[in-house]
Amino acid sequence: MAGNWKMCKTPSDTSAFFKEFNPLVADVKEREIVIFPPFVNLPAAIQSVNGSRIEIGGQNMYWARDGAFTGEISGPMLKAVGCRWVLVAHSERRQYFGETEETALQRIRAALETGLIPVVCVGEHLQDREAGKTHAVLEGQFQGGIAPLEPAQFAKIVIAYEPVWAIGTGRTATPQTAADSHRLIREMASIRYGRQAAADLRILYGGSVKPDNAKVLMAEEEIDGVLVGGASLDPQSFATIVKS
Ligand code: PGA
Repeated sequence: MAGNWKMCKTPSDTSAFFKEFNPLVADVKEREIVIFPPFVNLPAAIQSVNGSRIEIGGQNMYWARDGAFTGEISGPMLKAVGCRWVLVAHSERRQYFGETEETALQRIRAALETGLIPVVCVGEHLQDREAGKTHAVLEGQFQGGIAPLEPAQFAKIVIAYEPVWAIGTGRTATPQTAADSHRLIREMASIRYGRQAAADLRILYGGSVKPDNAKVLMAEEEIDGVLVGGASLDPQSFATIVKS
């Protein structure tokens, strides 16, 4: 159950969030909970979840370890502050910052080398879906950004299916539509890495997940978890989703 805060909240907002959120999920045992705050909030977030089961991740990372890359953050830096996870190639990164399958692959490899778990985001735009190209787009993202990984690397990643038309729009994919796409991704994984690896792969759904639709989404066998944007900013609403 993952929350992507995008470019929201300050360090003090972050501490306030966890003060309210931690007790709400203290009795949740069989779910992993991860929050992805903006970089500058990572120390506050990590300090706030100390002693709880909640984990923290970065929203992005560059693949070099260090060097002359002004404005970038590396995997070892995320690791050093206490992150265990990192988002890779979120659709907003692809759309506004020119990220591609190739850069996704470089980030995934660097994250794994550092010991971070990459949550690799894929998903089609509305015009792709309307043109019947969902399969082709997911196939391109999988073959370009994921399939070059070795089986041992693939075993460590999580995939998030986020149809771009459902992100921040209030327009959620129906559980069936989401599950269909998850099945497609799992099929590609099965062809490339074998049945067991595909069955073990965790696929999260993201795109307008809210407290009132999380339960029906989570009821789909194909949906192993959710990646939540807007509704993860509020402790009560994200706690309700975590428990769905
Ligand atoms: P949303 O964002 O829940 O606000 O639609 C999801 C995401 O982009 O990860």
